[in-house]
Amino acid sequence: MTAIQRVAVAHGDGIGPEIMNATLRILEAARVPLAFDPIEIGEAVYRRGILSGIPREAWETIRRNRVLLKGPITTPQGSGYKSINVTIRKSLGLFANVRQCKAYAPFVASTHPGMNIVIIRENEEDLYAGIEHRQTQEVTQVLKLISRPGSESIIRYAFEYARAYGRQKVTCMTKDNIMKLTDGLFHQVFDEVAREYPDLRAEHQIIDIGAARVAAMPESLDVVVTLNLYGDILSDIAAQVAGSVGLAGSANIGENAAMFEAVHGSAPDIAGRGVANPSGLLLAAIQMLVHLGLGSYAETIKHAWLATLEDGIHTADIYRVGLSERNVGTDDFTDAVIERLGRKPHTLTPVTYENRPIRVRVSRPPRRDKALVGVDVFLDWDEEGRNPERLGARLEALNGDGLALKMITNRGVKVYPDGLPETFCTDHWRCRFVSERPLRFPDLLALLTRLDAAGLHVVKTEHLYTFDGEAGYSLGQGE
Ligand code: NAI
Repeated sequence: MTAIQRVAVAHGDGIGPEIMNATLRILEAARVPLAFDPIEIGEAVYRRGILSGIPREAWETIRRNRVLLKGPITTPQGSGYKSINVTIRKSLGLFANVRQCKAYAPFVASTHPGMNIVIIRENEEDLYAGIEHRQTQEVTQVLKLISRPGSESIIRYAFEYARAYGRQKVTCMTKDNIMKLTDGLFHQVFDEVAREYPDLRAEHQIIDIGAARVAAMPESLDVVVTLNLYGDILSDIAAQVAGSVGLAGSANIGENAAMFEAVHGSAPDIAGRGVANPSGLLLAAIQMLVHLGLGSYAETIKHAWLATLEDGIHTADIYRVGLSERNVGTDDFTDAVIERLGRKPHTLTPVTYENRPIRVRVSRPPRRDKALVGVDVFLDWDEEGRNPERLGARLEALNGDGLALKMITNRGVKVYPDGLPETFCTDHWRCRFVSERPLRFPDLLALLTRLDAAGLHVVKTEHLYTFDGEAGYSLGQGE
């Protein structure tokens, strides 16, 4: 007999309780060997003044069970409230976000009936580190952090996923033509890992054309692996193109824990009316069963759900005259799925789920020889008509200790030496000082002290390093 596993369950806000009750009714009717421990997170908890939305008892249950099935949460407007999703993903190290986006044509209308893609999104890094600063009157910045182990984990996960689920191709999407170091690292790791999976096709697309293809020709894609922000946007496009955001489930997977939820939000506009489509959460629960090694239960429930769609029993969001037989509410849809447990679909393809957990290991490349060769000093400067030539002349006079001004850029465009008068300049200047010889940290401090003494306002510095002689920083134009 299969041992009972315990799962933490958060009903969520808005339509959350309606679709969670529906999902749990189906799981119980299928006699899944699971016990559910309810936790309270979300709106009510925020209202009690807990800014994270997650009380201590809820954390304890989640950490003990290591698996959370979560309804959508309403994030209150206003600063101070933290997104529960981001908090849970990061705190538990749920590095992989897996979203399957499939069309169920001809039973659910879709502009792309052959579409069947999986988007595997990096979940912890990128701009979502949320490290932002206002540096001058005019300029704010956000830090985009991409690590080699973070990239390798998600990319290996994508290839392992493709193998486990019989997929043929993995497409990596980045913007490395612009972000050569950050997105470039992701692309480079992708090429390295792809060589270990000769049985799978691997390709890279620039994210802009890649996103256009997700929208216009998704049949050409299979598994897509990408960075956090791109993946966030792509997966909503893909879910909508497939038919409805109400039809997509999402898994957040880490080494020691996992969270499963619908792609959509709490839909306050239809909450309490009994019309919500529970399919997104149900499909997430099916992903959870596979994750827990309960693939046969997952198959039974998926087949009953496919048979319900085939019989034209549809909730309002997917109901179409001519395609659908009955427009049903959440409860009747749930009853219809339960009645069909044990049936297989006639036209839609039945599924088989392997009980093979996906494990990834991350390599440790040899350490490179790291040398300090310069510094980018960022200045807040709003004097002398913002004339770059004047700033350049002031800075050249402060060269010393081997450090010499190489160039000044404004919003990334070189304005000194040899800038164009047409270039618009903000009050935020990146001034690159480089040295022919290896530097020591005190050399940088001495430069900063000279700049400060000359009345210039340093707002930040970025050190320039080489790794085995290779530049660890992007070059300016003409460098
Ligand atoms: P939403 O996804 O809740 O709703 C967008 C539209 O889709 C609405 O018209 C809604 O009625 C419809 N819809 C969504 N799910 C449906 C379903 N299962 N059946 C039928 N129709 C459905 O997005 P919105 O309105 O932007 O966000 C509402 C709240 O949800 C916000 O507070 C937001 O922060 C939160 N949210 C939470 C998420 C989560 O917990 N994972 C994800 C996205 C948003």
